[in-house]
Order: sequence, then C-alpha cells, then structure tokens
Amino acid sequence: MDPDDHVCLCFHVSQRKIVNYCRRENPPVVSLISECLSAGTGCGWCVPFLKKLHAQVKAGEHEPDLPVSPEEYARRRMKFRSTGEREDDGVAGGNAGGDADQDADDDAGRAADG
Ligand code: FES
Repeated sequence: MDPDDHVCLCFHVSQRKIVNYCRRENPPVVSLISECLSAGTGCGWCVPFLKKLHAQVKAGEHEPDLPVSPEEYARRRMKFRSTGEREDDGVAGGNAGGDADQDADDDAGRAADG
C-alpha cells in the first residue's frame, strides 16, 4: 500500500493517518486507534491491519506498510463483508482471526513436546 491508500475503508482513514496517529499518540492498545477518525469501528475488516501497523510503529519500523495492493485489499474486504470469512495470507500478521489464545496453546504444546 501507499501511505495515502485507505486502510479503514469504512471511514476512509489512510495508512499515513494511522501511522502518524500511532507515532504521535503512542496508543498502548490497538483499540485506541479508533480515536483516529473512527478507524476500525465499522465493519471490523481493518482491525487486524491496524494491529499490524500498530506493531510496526511500536517496533520502530521506519516505514510501516501493509504488503498488499489497495485493489486486493478492497477485494478481500468485499468478500469478508459478504461471507464473514477472511483470506489470511499473513498480511495481517498471521493472527487475522484474533485467536491469541490458540497461539498461547500452541506454544504450551511445543514446550511440553520439547
Ligand atoms: S474497513 Fe475499517 S471498520 Fe470497516
């Protein structure tokens, strides 16, 4: 994506606005990004992508970015809105379903195995 491409398509919030908001306000949790022009409070599609950008800013990445074209992003959102399912190719950080508990379980399983 380019900085001026919209990440939150419901509220037309660009990647640049989200990154600048995260840098300026340093929100401790992703949900506070909603204070940036209501990003993430519509259909919910963009929330994993907000998480990804938030994590990149926290990690001090020079140019936070989402490795997907705006056309592909919009196509996936349209599918999400019609089916409720996400195409997860890792763009959203591999946790598009927000299943943090499952990740913790996986880690526990590996520790028990090893
Ligand atoms: S795309 Fe951001 S809430 Fe719908």
